[in-house]
Formats: sequence, structure tokens, C-alpha cells
Amino acid sequence: MFVSDCLSVNEKGNLTIGGIDTVDLAAKYGTPCYVVDEDQIRANCRAYVKSIEDNYDGNGLAIYASKAFNCKAMCKIVNEEKMGLDVVSGGELYTALSVGFPSEKIYFHGNNKTLAELDEAVKAGVGRVVVDNIYELENLSKAAKKQGKTVGVLLRIKPGIDAHTHSFIMTGQIDSKFGFALETGEAMDGIKAAIAAENIDFKGVHCHIGSQIFDVEPFERAAEVMIGFMADIKAETGVEVEELDLGGGFGIKYSSDDNPLAYSEYMAKVAGVLKAECVKKGVKQPFIVIEPGRSVAGSAGITLYTVGAVKTIPDIRTYVSIDGGMGDNPRYILYQSTYELVCANKADKPKDFKITLAGRCCESGDLIQEDALVQQVEPGDIMAVLSTGAYNYSMSSNYNRIPKPPVVMVSGGQSRVVVRRETYEDIIAKDM
Ligand code: LLP
Repeated sequence: MFVSDCLSVNEKGNLTIGGIDTVDLAAKYGTPCYVVDEDQIRANCRAYVKSIEDNYDGNGLAIYASKAFNCKAMCKIVNEEKMGLDVVSGGELYTALSVGFPSEKIYFHGNNKTLAELDEAVKAGVGRVVVDNIYELENLSKAAKKQGKTVGVLLRIKPGIDAHTHSFIMTGQIDSKFGFALETGEAMDGIKAAIAAENIDFKGVHCHIGSQIFDVEPFERAAEVMIGFMADIKAETGVEVEELDLGGGFGIKYSSDDNPLAYSEYMAKVAGVLKAECVKKGVKQPFIVIEPGRSVAGSAGITLYTVGAVKTIPDIRTYVSIDGGMGDNPRYILYQSTYELVCANKADKPKDFKITLAGRCCESGDLIQEDALVQQVEPGDIMAVLSTGAYNYSMSSNYNRIPKPPVVMVSGGQSRVVVRRETYEDIIAKDM
């Protein structure tokens, strides 16, 4: 009935998440409030771990792309579920280390890691630094040498596949700020430099073709291109590439029109291509890494708001204002993202009211959805926006000096705060 399995409607007609009444959650924790179903997140993690076991003899690692939603609780869960972690900043790394995340299972990403971050990554002993460019390779080599350590690296390659949501093209990807281009020879030069670099242990190659992708075909083509490149590396340098990281990007359901495949199906198909291409190109089957972010956390989360003013402009539209907005969910203003709305205390009623859901920031574009159908809402109702578990909390801001909402996790019928609500004191805490 809803975009996510963890959501339902109870006998009061209220929306539930993980079996808990969201109207009660709003009363207990206040609004706006992010609510995340821990059991759903764990099930998603397990599905990825199992998909590698079932389809690739367990010769790989699923790492959670923590940019989607990173906090201490999330790092702990991911570790308990035996996944690795993709971090893209010193802040994400610091969070992971603060809860004892095993550093050898951390992959450090980013197209312009600072010198300080490279030092931090080396010091922490991260499993892999995914090197984006030659300048970074040189700096990493120096940082590792200075600390008397050797760092395992992957090189980020642009495989020349531009994956869009429902289609893909195989050109044009030279124009990306990320990684080494294949077509120009930049990638092969980078590999040779990595093999030769001091205190660098060249382990393999990485690619990431996009996000919110539903088709399996772009992933299959990327696997094919990357195995071909591994064969070229072997031919030119004699080095057998040990590890292939295929990135993330698996799509989730934001609306009933979205139809993502089960993760196991992606993996079954991609593993089939990998095995066949390795035989064809004469290379050893690599250890594989996948980096799902959105599909681990996205559908497990919702945001609860309280409805304020309802303003109908005759023959134009009805604005329904909520006590949050672009500060806690900037995805509509950035990408015009689709979201499903549910009036949490009227979830069993028909959705026959067309509204524009407006945030409270001093900005006309501060909208969460335009012309969306929802139940007949009134001031004081609880509005739920679904599938907000990824790239909402992690992309939130304090625009207009509005404190950020808390993150509440539900599991086994219980709820707890994992990130507390910001206060006004938090807002001024760093002002001198
Ligand atoms: N690996 C790499 C190298 C990435 O750049 C990303 C996402 C991922 C993995 C995880 O991709 P996912 O499985 O979550 O699709 N803020 C945007 C999404 C940006 C994605 C950036 N990279 C949004 O809200 O839609």
C-alpha cells in the first residue's frame, strides 16, 4: 500500500512505522522529526551481504555509502550487519571511528580530499583510499611515507557510462569532476603511477555510474568495461588487479510509479557478467565491492511535521505549510524530487486534496512537493513525508537559524532518539 514495507495503518487510521503509531511518535518527540526503522535498515544490509554470498561466493564486501545518512547509531548498525563503510570526509570518518568502526573496512572517497583528511585516513589505517587524481596520489604517498605506513588504494575510473534513471548512454562521461578518464589514457597513466608510488599498495579500480538507477543494464555494462580495463592493466603492466568496486546507485521507491528490482537480482545479473567477462578476457575474478547508500536507508525513513496554515488561492493552488522544509529536506528545491505524502492521523482516508506542501523558510522555493494528493488536511494535523531516510538528515542545514530535527529510531516496537533535536544554544554555540 505504501512505498515502504515498514509502513502501515493501524486501527485508529493512523500511519505506523515499524508497527509504532506515528501520531504518538510526533506527540512524544515533537515535530519536525525524522523517524527511521532500524529493522528495515538491518534487513536491507542483510540483503546486500547475502546477495554477494549467494551470487559471488561471498568474495566481496558490501559497504554502506554513509553520505546517505551518517550518525553514530547508523555506523554501529552497519558494523553489526558486517558491512564496510564508505566515507567522503573527515567528519564521516570521525563519526565512524568514534564508535569503533573497524578501520580496515572503511573506504575513503572524495574528489578533493584535503591534506589533513589524507593524514587522518592514513593515521586511522583505513582499508582503502579511493584515489581520484594524480595530485591526490602524490599527496597520499607523501602522507603515508611521513607516517611510515603503506595505504591500500583503488583508483576511481570514469567508465564512460552515463546512467540516467531509465536509460543510459555510453559517452560524455569525460566531463565529470570525479576520477580518471579511460578514453584519454589518463586512467592507465594513473594506474602506472599508483603501482610505482612509494607507500602505496595498488589494490584495484573503482567506478560509480550514478544514483537512483532502476535499470540493471548500465551496471552490467560498467562491469564489462571495468573487466576489460583490468585486462588492459594486466597486459600493459603485468599486474593482476585484485579488487573491483562497482559503486552504488541502486534506485528506491519514492512513488508508486517507481519499480526497483530486488538487490539480489542486480547482483545475480552483474555477477553473471563479471564471471563471463573474466573468462573471456583472461583475468582472475576480482574481489568485488558495492556501495549502496540510498537503498539501505532511504525507504526506512519518514519525516513527521505538524501542519500550520492552509492557504487556498482560488483557481491556483492550496499551500499547506509545515514546521520544517528545505532545512531538513532540500531535495525538492535541489532536484524536484518526488515524495509521497500521508496525513498521519487520517491515513485511512482517501487522498482527494491537491496541495503544495510548503516549508517555513523565507524562500519561495522552499517547497517539499507541488500538486500532490493527500487527505483533507487541517492545521494541527501530522504530515508524513515518506522515503526520507537517505540524503535528508545528511543534507540538512540551519538556514534561517532553524534548529535541525532529531532522528528517532524504531525497532521491535520501541523507539529511541539517536540524534537529539538541536537547540537554540546549539545554534549559537560556535559563534564567537
Ligand atoms: N559511491 C559513490 C562513489 C557515490 O558517489 C555515491 C553517491 C554512492 C556510492 C551511493 O549512491 P546511492 O546508492 O546512494 O545512490 N544527494 C543526491 C544523491 C547524491 C549521490 C552521490 N553519490 C540525492 O539526494 O539524490
